[in-house]
Formats: sequence, structure tokens, C-alpha cells
Amino acid sequence: MRVTVHRKAHFNAAHRLYNSAWDDEKNFKTFGKCSYPNYHGHNYEMIVSVTGEIDPVTGFVINLDVLKRIIYEEIEVYFDHKNLNLDLIEFKDKIPTAENIVVLIWNRIRYRLDDHIDLKITLYETPRNFVTYDGN
Ligand code: NI
Repeated sequence: MRVTVHRKAHFNAAHRLYNSAWDDEKNFKTFGKCSYPNYHGHNYEMIVSVTGEIDPVTGFVINLDVLKRIIYEEIEVYFDHKNLNLDLIEFKDKIPTAENIVVLIWNRIRYRLDDHIDLKITLYETPRNFVTYDGN
């Protein structure tokens, strides 16, 4: 029996969507207000979903205290109250869209989990705009 366990988390961060190879006009046409030079913030909400067999000894797919700690260490400490463009090396030459952020989140959690557990991340940039990534 494979069961999926979900845990919600959140962080606040600032970013700017901007391709440095383009002029301001093309950036505005592509990214709209998100290209404004002085950055803007989002309240990012995320759902971490782990799927695996139920351990017959514990009855758990994963110990949620362990998952909570991984999310804290890998995501909240790393992303919360940061400027994604300026503070995170991963976005030095990559645009910090929700798509690129969710892949980074997935990678930072994936390596902390057992191989037999599947991981999917859902990332809300706004209540209506969200992305998902499961490593594929
Ligand atoms: Ni934005």
C-alpha cells in the first residue's frame, strides 16, 4: 500500500523576473509588473507530498517530525525573507520564476529522503497561481 503524506509550509521572499539579455521594454512585455526593477514580494505557500509504503513497524510513510525538520532546514532557512535574485546563487543566472523555484525546492528536499520515497512539490506563488514538480 502506497500512501501519500502531505505537509504544508510557507516562506516570504522577493524577486524580479528579468532577462538581462533583453531591454526593459521586452522585459516588460514578457514579465509585466514582475519586471519592475525594485523587486516585489510573495507569500509562497508550498505542499510537500511524499509517497511510499507504510512501514509496518511505525505505521508511517515518513515521520512528520523528520519531514518538518527537513523543510525547515532546506527551505525555510534558505528561502525565507530572502531576495531570490540577489541572495540565492542558483538565481544568479536563472530567472526566479515559480517554475525554477519549485525545481530548486524539490532538489533540496529530495536528497534528504530515502530512495524508496517519491516526492512531489506544489508551490503557490499566489492563491491562484501554482506549479508542481515531481522530478520528471
Ligand atoms: Ni512575482
